[in-house]
Amino acid sequence: SDPYPFYGEHQAGIVTPAQDRLHFAAFDVITDDRAELVELLQEWTAAAARLTQGKEAGAFGAAGVSPQAAPDDTGEALGLPASGLTLTIGFGPSLFDERFGLARLRPAALADLPKFPGEQLIPDISGGDLCVQACAHDPQVAVHAIRNLARIGFGKVSVRWSQLGFGRTSSTSRAQATPRNLMGFKDGTNNLKLEDADLLRAQLWADARDGTPWMAGGSYVVTRKIRMTIETWDRTSLAEQEQIFGRDKVEGAPLGKKSEFDPLDFTARAPDGQPYIKDDAHIRLAHPTAHGNAHLLRRGYNFVDGSDGLGRLDAGLFFIAYQRDPRKQFVPIQLTLAKNDPLNEYIKHVSSALFACPPGVRDAGDYWGRTLF
Ligand code: HEM
Repeated sequence: SDPYPFYGEHQAGIVTPAQDRLHFAAFDVITDDRAELVELLQEWTAAAARLTQGKEAGAFGAAGVSPQAAPDDTGEALGLPASGLTLTIGFGPSLFDERFGLARLRPAALADLPKFPGEQLIPDISGGDLCVQACAHDPQVAVHAIRNLARIGFGKVSVRWSQLGFGRTSSTSRAQATPRNLMGFKDGTNNLKLEDADLLRAQLWADARDGTPWMAGGSYVVTRKIRMTIETWDRTSLAEQEQIFGRDKVEGAPLGKKSEFDPLDFTARAPDGQPYIKDDAHIRLAHPTAHGNAHLLRRGYNFVDGSDGLGRLDAGLFFIAYQRDPRKQFVPIQLTLAKNDPLNEYIKHVSSALFACPPGVRDAGDYWGRTLF
């Protein structure tokens, strides 16, 4: 398939039909020099423009300029196509502290997330000054991209944490089949999608009138690493699993309906008088009608990070959601889920991060974050 264009009004990797693989990295900026930070963003942009088109990170590539210097590409993607690679950058709340003189440009929508009931966040794998989301159909291509950006950033940034995802848990286009998360359920049925032009304008893309002109055309991303105790889940009855989500397992249809995309009807009752979709079903608690019509563009991935030493897989969902304003979208939805979702018996949020993803790079003279600096 053809590479996705790097230049455009919006960054790629948001409404781009979700690719199969993820390498998500958060970075700490370790220089205090604003000019160095801008220079890094310019170097990263140039490399990203090349990498996403299936080229090597630098003009000389793995063959190098001279045998005495380190090559400007690490080489492990030689011979591989672009593989649908997209690279998406974001700026975390901590980038707007006193170091770079950006405090007055911090978007109101980039407000620190509140503490949510039950979360057990590990600081070392949360937050970050910058993030880069690399998505591709080939994991080697995604990892190669993050690795080369880290290499280019040597001395200016260091990797704070990174996460691999091996299977998409969402569709972001109606042209895609809905994939499944590690609980075995279709995930992404009722998601914001590429084709929903009006909703994307209203719910996904920041607008100059939102109060932060430099973010116009950008979006805000929340990531949550959600550990699943799949061993317990796997011993739970099918009926209980389906009631927790409010959908059936094989087809993904709303309970009481036949097909995956049948419209939700929360008033429908079974012959015993009980609602087909229980009051605390996940899809009911998370539904836009429960939150003043707040939608999310979910774009998460399955992960298995080995085992946990207690005889269990260290597995779960690396949740990623894009939106216009987390204060009106992710935060109220997650507050409701954290309090009432019976799914909580089987999951634990262990990391959290929030980033402002600036608008797209217009052309070769532009760079990631130019509107901020
Ligand atoms: C829907 C799974 C966490 C927000 C769904 C669906 C499944 C699911 C199976 C139904 C299919 C669909 O419409 O996509 C999970 C799992 C989670 C998780 C396994 C944790 C491990 C979250 C979180 C949020 C969230 C943290 C947001 C704070 C939503 C929304 C919908 C949804 C907005 C669509 C509801 C609708 O309008 O029908 N989720 N989810 N989910 N989930 Fe989750």
